[in-house]
Amino acid sequence: MPRNIIDVTDLTVKEINELIDTAEDIAANPEKYREACRYKQLATLFFEPSTRTRLSFESAMLALGGSVLGFSEANSSSAAKGETVGDTIHTVSCYADIIAMRHPKEGAPYAAAQYTEVPIINAGDGGHNHPTQTLTDLLTIHREKGRLGGFTIGFCGDLKFGRTVHSLVNALCRYEDVNFVLISPLELKLPRYVKEEALKKRGIPYKQTDSLEAVMPDLDILYMTRVQRERFFNEEDYLRLKDSYILTPEKLERAKADLSILHPLPRVNEISVAVDKDPRAAYWKQVKNGKFIRMALILKLLDIQV
Ligand code: CP
Repeated sequence: MPRNIIDVTDLTVKEINELIDTAEDIAANPEKYREACRYKQLATLFFEPSTRTRLSFESAMLALGGSVLGFSEANSSSAAKGETVGDTIHTVSCYADIIAMRHPKEGAPYAAAQYTEVPIINAGDGGHNHPTQTLTDLLTIHREKGRLGGFTIGFCGDLKFGRTVHSLVNALCRYEDVNFVLISPLELKLPRYVKEEALKKRGIPYKQTDSLEAVMPDLDILYMTRVQRERFFNEEDYLRLKDSYILTPEKLERAKADLSILHPLPRVNEISVAVDKDPRAAYWKQVKNGKFIRMALILKLLDIQV
């Protein structure tokens, strides 16, 4: 059976820490890895739009000396003719050594994994999970803070549909001494199943609030998120909620001097462009880290040692 990454908990904490070590080595010595995946092929199957995830996967495989194939929208594949995800994956696994797949339906990568002989990576499934964004976030936190635990992290924005939040909460609750602050409007609270499975079951305390200003001074990490327009059932609700939080330099005046601001991107309005100049803004570094950690993950799943 191939090793698949459908959920971040498919990796142990030890494996995540090893991936971070490999990603650090890749960042420091990229030339060492230049031929590591020679003759290997990565397929990127994106049934939903993406900039960072798809291109960082492709850039990662190219930097490892491999090659890439795939599609960036469902309409350019035979899904448009009614082909099932299972048949698409069965087909692509005849051409590629490893598959990264994004799909608007929750659980689609899990279903797809039943039809493949090659490793499959969930590159985001609906409003559910996004494990490789989480690996990117963990690498970024590790690089910014020097540790993965012993801090207070605030998740702000659309915690209901934000799949990156669900995966990161699931990952961080396995580390020591992480305090969770959940900042959202009432309608966009973290789903009960994430709270139950990740936090309550482990007895991890958390705070819920709708006021970013009130908790700002407590935070070591602020994880901002976009309100996910594509997951709303009606436009009216989206328009009412979309600007619930807008991070500005003024709001950051009450934040810690060593706060780290993360955002999986894309952003819409929730972080003012003026914040980009703040040394606490880590989201552009986060984009770069996404390539290093995906390189490390590809090597691991293909069982390639460098
Ligand atoms: N963070 C993230 O998943 O970005 P894309 O949607 O651009 O891939």
